[in-house]
Amino acid sequence: MKVLVVGSGAREHAIAESFKKSKKVQEVIVTPGNDGIALYFRIAKLPDFTSYIDFVKKEKIDLVFIGPEQPLSEGLTDYLEQHGIKVIGPSQLAARIESSKAFAKKLMQKYKIPTAAFKTFTDYEKAEKYLASCTFPQVIKADGLAAGKGVIIVHNISEARETLQNIMIEGAFGNAGNQVVIEEFMIGWETSIFAFSDGKSFVSTIFAQDHKAIYDGDKGPNTGGMGAYAPVDKAKSYKHFVDEKIFKPVFKAMQEEGFPFKGVLFAGLMITKRGPNVVEFNCRFGDPETQVILPLLKTDLADICQSILDGTIEDLSLEWEDGYAVNVVAASQGYPGEYRKGDLIEIAPELLETQDAKIYFSGVKKSEKGMLTNGGRVCSVMAKSTSLTSAINSAYNHFLLLKFNGKTYRTDIGKKGLY
Ligand code: AMP
Ligand code: GLY
Repeated sequence: MKVLVVGSGAREHAIAESFKKSKKVQEVIVTPGNDGIALYFRIAKLPDFTSYIDFVKKEKIDLVFIGPEQPLSEGLTDYLEQHGIKVIGPSQLAARIESSKAFAKKLMQKYKIPTAAFKTFTDYEKAEKYLASCTFPQVIKADGLAAGKGVIIVHNISEARETLQNIMIEGAFGNAGNQVVIEEFMIGWETSIFAFSDGKSFVSTIFAQDHKAIYDGDKGPNTGGMGAYAPVDKAKSYKHFVDEKIFKPVFKAMQEEGFPFKGVLFAGLMITKRGPNVVEFNCRFGDPETQVILPLLKTDLADICQSILDGTIEDLSLEWEDGYAVNVVAASQGYPGEYRKGDLIEIAPELLETQDAKIYFSGVKKSEKGMLTNGGRVCSVMAKSTSLTSAINSAYNHFLLLKFNGKTYRTDIGKKGLY
């Protein structure tokens, strides 16, 4: 089997590695990938949807796996399927569960899936009037895709007005801000989980925990994720609830509404006093959760994909390695604001060769001098071990083998799982 993975980040690096472990997979190609992924995999540049068709035929690709939300929300799955190509990833209609927060919230409301109380607005005046009647904090969300930046917690009416103006009048997130969701601020702790679905049935994974803020102790602005660990022991007792009250109704809802979800659904959860509530659904694997969940997955990812295509997810149960995985992200100085670029990355050869840890590349670029930083999140190091403490220690010890000017990271990834 030959697999084409679509995407360019550390998540796609981890997905490609997971396919590589399968005995059924002869080759994995990544598009567009990045120069770090290219150390391990062939990469291909496919500039538009049409270029996929010739490439898939010429290379005899058996399966296309789409990593990021952007091509899913633009309908890449539908386009490839229309050309007879086997794809893992939801249709454009199903991808609205991520590409429109208003759509996702209304679906959850209709099917009684636990989530924060909310209102949606396309009219600035009405939104402002509503906010004037609220108690604070409230959460204001741009409806559309905003690269993880479209969610703002506001603590008083003047912050709320300013945020609303930024989104709806000044267009801080472009068309993504034509509609806003204003929702109740939930108190609790966050965890995330994925489910594989063939549109009818589903099977869910272990829980992971992301670390979104840039600084230790969850301080500072939110990023795309500074690290993750899995499994989350204190989340385990919620698994049955999440399967029965969140995944089961959402997949049923999407099937009933005529846009069944086939692929990987990510549920970001807030564990509140009243139990797990959905913060967001994503129509794909999460980043950086994938970098800790897939390394622990014993079941062959190619088999899971086959079950999705065959509609036999119902017969599948997932197997997991014992132990824990921890992933620590190295970001560029300044991230998530404006950041440094072009710093030489020194990677000790043992980090590239060891079986005990794995480096996943995201924002890097090859040059005559060597590999250079070329993005906010540059790369990350994942290590596994029998206990969470030893996995944390191993990830950080291997992380020391990676150096560049301005290397920015959190020193507390995984510690939330220790108490
Ligand atoms: P989202 O992009 O919707 O996942 O939101 C980003 C982050 O904002 C979440 O991971 C939460 O930390 C926070 N957040 C979003 N919605 C709420 C809410 N209703 N209550 C509290 N925090 C929230
Ligand atoms: N870790 C959250 C996301 O992938 O959006």
